Amino acid sequence: MILVTGGAGYVGSHTCKALAQAREEHIVFDNLSTGHDWAVKWGTLFRGDICNLHDLRTCFQRYPIQEVVHFAALSLVGESGIKPAEYYETNVIGTLNLLRVMKEFEVRSIVFSSSAAVYGEPEEIPIPESHPLRPVNVYGRTKVMMEQLMADFQLAYGLNFAALRYFNAAGADPDGEIGEVHEPETHLIPNVLRTALGIQEMLDIYGTDYPTPDGSPIRDYIHVTDLAEAHLLALNYLRRGACLGAINLGSNIGYSVGEVVNSAERLVGHTIPKAARQRRAGDPVRLIAGNSRAKEVLGWSPQSSLEEMIQSALVFSTGKMRHLA
Ligand SMILES: NC(=O)c1ccc[n+]([C@@H]2O[C@H](COP(=O)([O-])OP(=O)(O)OC[C@H]3O[C@@H](n4cnc5c(N)ncnc54)[C@H](O)[C@@H]3O)[C@@H](O)[C@H]2O)c1
Repeated sequence: MILVTGGAGYVGSHTCKALAQAREEHIVFDNLSTGHDWAVKWGTLFRGDICNLHDLRTCFQRYPIQEVVHFAALSLVGESGIKPAEYYETNVIGTLNLLRVMKEFEVRSIVFSSSAAVYGEPEEIPIPESHPLRPVNVYGRTKVMMEQLMADFQLAYGLNFAALRYFNAAGADPDGEIGEVHEPETHLIPNVLRTALGIQEMLDIYGTDYPTPDGSPIRDYIHVTDLAEAHLLALNYLRRGACLGAINLGSNIGYSVGEVVNSAERLVGHTIPKAARQRRAGDPVRLIAGNSRAKEVLGWSPQSSLEEMIQSALVFSTGKMRHLA
């Protein structure tokens, strides 16, 4: 059985659906701080906190856990600078607790969510995994520490891990069953769609004077179902008894904020009101993943286009609105 921490959240719930489709039995461990009980549709929900060793031990005692997929974390870059204690507590201490309990129960395989934030301001594009790790915010530093914990547990106790460094997760389940619901929402595509659907008045565009063709920053977007698939491939890789280490999950392609907005405008058939705002501190011009290692080692490459990401997010958002009406 697979333990999925943070399985009630955005990427976690999509991965749980992919696990269920692959007939992989799993249990969701989540404190529902940013996740949702309605998003736990495939495995049983065990309500617990990774900061609490007792919760973790109870879950490991109750279920025959053999592998772990670890999403549970706090992940708002801006908030991490204002609440560093909470971020180090959940992301670093919570991960250390999980690894300790895994060791106690002789569970030696973990796939976990790292982030492009580990790199900081890139020296080269696309960014390879060998790029120096120089995070520019607390969130990114917690992810580097989580990776370091895994590497040290590997050396000392033979833990096999995969640190999946995602770039920007986007889109929703194509069946519309689950999708992205964060409060506050800081990700671009849901905010573009909220504005398009009239839920918010204006879309803020942070920085319109970057050295890019339209002046807005460029990011790498990955469909959440493509990400989910990569977790299954990583689990299978670890089952061979090997350690995968760090691996980028991105597309090798970047889209500017302006291009994402234009694409959404074409889909909804009208212009989206937008306001130019100051650049945010620490927001690099371009973040694009080199994904050759994921291709070579996992046989993974993203399958969905930007339009498919926006379309699936739109289907989920409109369904949600109908539900609330
Ligand atoms: N969404 C992205 O674009 C993106 C990009 C890079 C990395 N990541 C990483 O991927 C992971 C999942 O991201 P997401 O967007 O799905 O986030 P999310 O907030 O939707 O999901 C996180 C889940 O973890 C749970 N959780 C938080 N603290 C917990 C605790 N102490 N104990 C138990 N459960 C707890 C939340 O309730 C939530 O269900 C995170 O680790 C995040 O840092 C996400």
